[in-house]
Amino acid sequence: MDTTESITREELNLAPTIAEDLIEQARAEAERQAADYAPGEKEALIQRIKKLLREQNAVLVAHYYTSDDLQQLADETGGHVADSLEMARFGSEHPATTLVVAGVRFMGETAKILNPEKRVLMPDPEATCSLDLDCPPDVFSRFCDAHPDHTVVVYANTCAEVKARADWVVTSGIALPIVRHLAAHNRKILWAPDKYLGSYVRSRTGCEMLLWPGSCVVHEKFKADGILRLKQQYPDAAILVHPESPEDVIALADEVGSTTALINAARRMENRRFIVATEPGIFYKMKEAAPDKIFLEAPNAGAGATCESCARCPWMAMNGLRNLARTLETGDNEILVEETIRRKAVRSIRRMLDFAREHTISAGQGNA
Ligand code: 13P
Ligand code: SF4
Repeated sequence: MDTTESITREELNLAPTIAEDLIEQARAEAERQAADYAPGEKEALIQRIKKLLREQNAVLVAHYYTSDDLQQLADETGGHVADSLEMARFGSEHPATTLVVAGVRFMGETAKILNPEKRVLMPDPEATCSLDLDCPPDVFSRFCDAHPDHTVVVYANTCAEVKARADWVVTSGIALPIVRHLAAHNRKILWAPDKYLGSYVRSRTGCEMLLWPGSCVVHEKFKADGILRLKQQYPDAAILVHPESPEDVIALADEVGSTTALINAARRMENRRFIVATEPGIFYKMKEAAPDKIFLEAPNAGAGATCESCARCPWMAMNGLRNLARTLETGDNEILVEETIRRKAVRSIRRMLDFAREHTISAGQGNA
C-alpha cells in the first residue's frame, strides 16, 4: 500500500458518517443543560458546587469548549481551563483526590489512566467525540496488526483501548514535534483517527504517514469560501484555524494550532480582528486574553453563511452546572478504566508527557 495515501472508510467497514441520531441525542441533552434557570437557581447551583468541591477535596478541570459558566467556575475554584494536553498535565500534578473533568469522555479517561489512585468524575460520561466514535478499538487493532512495520501514533481523542494499542499518544499541541522526532528516526507512522490533522502533520513534517479516515463533525464543516467572503468584508482580520479543519481551510490560516496556540496567537498578533475556525467556547478565554480585540466565528454552513454558534460541539455542550452539581452530590458518573488496558494506555500517554517535559514544550508551543 502507498503509505502517503489515506485509507477509505469503506475499506475499514466504517459507517459513511457519524449517525445523525447520536448528534441529535447529544444536542437534546445539551438543551436540557442549558434550559433557562428559575430565579436564583443558577447562583444556588454555583454555591452548591463550590461547597461540594471543597468538602470532597475535588478540583474542576474544564476544556476551552465548555460553557462560560463552567470555565468561570473552574477559574474561581482553583481549577483549570485548558487544552487537552494541559488538562492531562494539570490533573496529574494537582494534589486533589477527586478530579472533575468537564469535557468529553476521552479527557476523563486520560485523567483516570494517569491517576488511578484518584476518583475521576464527569458531569456526563456519555459526552463523546466523533473522532473517538470513528475509531472502534477492534477494527483499529486489526489494522495495526496488518501494518506491523509502522509506529502507531494516535490522537488523544480516542478511547482507552485505542491508546493501549498505540506507541504514542499526541494532542494537537504536540503532534508536530513528536512526528518530526519520529521522522528523524526514519519511522513510518500509522496515524489515527483524524485525517485532517494527520494530513496537516504529514505536510509539515514530510513524514511517511498512513492516515485513518476519521474526522471531527465540528471542524470538518468549516468552509473556505465562507471564510474568504468574511475576509473580503474584513481584510484586516487574521484567520486562526484548529488543525482538525479541512486542508483548504488550513491553507487560509495565519495561525494553525491547538486551542491554547490559537488563544496565544490572538494575544500576540497585532491584528484587531480575528476570524476563528474552531469551537466558539474558546471565545471566553480569547476575550480574556485579548479584551480589546474582535472575534468572528468562521462560517461553517457554505457560501455566504455567517453563523451564530453553529460550530458548537454537541458533546462538549452536554456539560452543565446542573449535571456537575448532581455528579458531585451522588458520586455517579465515575470514570473507570479496566486495569490491564490502563497499564498499556498509560505508557503511550506518559511518552507524550515525558517528551513535552524533555523538550520543554508547554501548552501552545508545539505547533510552531
Ligand atoms: P485541543 O487539544 O486543541 O484542546 O483540542 C481538543 C479537541 O477536541 C479539539 O476539537
Ligand atoms: Fe471531538 Fe470535534 Fe467535539 Fe473536539 S470539537 S470534542 S474533536 S467532536
